[in-house]
Amino acid sequence: MPAYARATFDQVMVPNYAPGAFVPVSGKGSRVKDRSGRVLIDFAGGIAVTALGHCHPRIVKALRRQADRLWHVSNVVTNEPALELASKLVAKTFAERVFLCNSGAEANEAALKLARRVASDNEIVKGKRPDLARRHEILAFQNAFHGRTLLTVTATGQKKYLEGYGPLPAGIRHVPYNDLAAARAAITDRTCAVIVEPMQGEGGVTPATKAFLKGLRKRCNEAGALLVFDEIQSGAGRTGALYAYMKYGVTPDILTTAKGLGAGFPIGAMLTTAKLAAHFTVGSHGTTFGGNPLACAAALSVLDTLVADDLCANAARMGERLVQGLRARLAGTPGVVEVRGRGLMVGIELREPCGHLVQAALEQGLLINVTADNVIRLLPPLVIQAAEVDQIIDTLAALIAAQAGGAQSAA
Ligand SMILES: Cc1ncc(COP(=O)(O)O)c(C=O)c1O
Repeated sequence: MPAYARATFDQVMVPNYAPGAFVPVSGKGSRVKDRSGRVLIDFAGGIAVTALGHCHPRIVKALRRQADRLWHVSNVVTNEPALELASKLVAKTFAERVFLCNSGAEANEAALKLARRVASDNEIVKGKRPDLARRHEILAFQNAFHGRTLLTVTATGQKKYLEGYGPLPAGIRHVPYNDLAAARAAITDRTCAVIVEPMQGEGGVTPATKAFLKGLRKRCNEAGALLVFDEIQSGAGRTGALYAYMKYGVTPDILTTAKGLGAGFPIGAMLTTAKLAAHFTVGSHGTTFGGNPLACAAALSVLDTLVADDLCANAARMGERLVQGLRARLAGTPGVVEVRGRGLMVGIELREPCGHLVQAALEQGLLINVTADNVIRLLPPLVIQAAEVDQIIDTLAALIAAQAGGAQSAA
């Protein structure tokens, strides 16, 4: 393949991204390398995707094996990797039925469409006209992120992602995250679903409180609304449990998962109960690539590796080391508000916007991500070991301290 540089991006790609100058060509574990041989430690993890690091031998082997067998058959027939993956997800979670798709947004789109459909079907059963179905509202939360399709970006609700796309789908409301009183008041007999991230990622790496999720569950039960957990970022072991809901002890009606599930191979899934799934009758929803054998083979090897290598426990241990280490090193550093996280989903909130730190970190050999303007988001692979965690603590603490020093001398 000819050598390409960052400059080509501006000539041939739609300009909806602003990628950095580093163009990786290979990766191994938590490191990526460019053509010149420069190596970076990847603490952005493809935004919570590369759960097993880059090119994990088990996934590579599974993909190679599947690549020699069967790539695609569409949903006109089913296939063995899809059936095995769905069986595993059913065995390991609350779910009884699985809808396979290709991305997080698609999984959420399916979840919200299913909720609307369930409400509509129930209205029809009661003898009302479906076009007049009262129960259609979706409640979401401020600072959420649920995807970029028109329905999921409306559920995301952040102005910066919505501008210029109207008219938007109707019936979606937002109240502050972790504000149970506001949510309770907003959930009525018009609400078909409440969609919530047990841990907001893009919104600033903010965990839900247990009382909030338990309260949502109770209110949804009272009002007859479905509770949807968006675990697209927090799922597949990242927070130290296979899915974050397991540690909260609150079970949703629908759960969405993607990102780390394929650990770099595009796949998404919507998990639900048999009773709810029955409303997605033949032809009512679908996607050409859903259940793709290659994607399912990759996801199967991810689930197997999470268990075989005890990676949820490693995520919990390494996450604790990262948070405690950062807290200790950053104590008293001006401009640091808080270090928080669950497992290997960790945020460092700074007082000031810190997008420029991504470039500064890159120069130090580190790939990081900044979200919500002022939160450094760390999403390393779940296979990470103590030495690398300590290295990131050192590098980041020095970087943040230098920026604090710079800000002080500039002030
Ligand atoms: C919580 C959450 N939901 C949904 C999405 C959308 O997923 P995708 O980009 O795969 O469509 C994301 C992506 O960042 C996410 O973090």
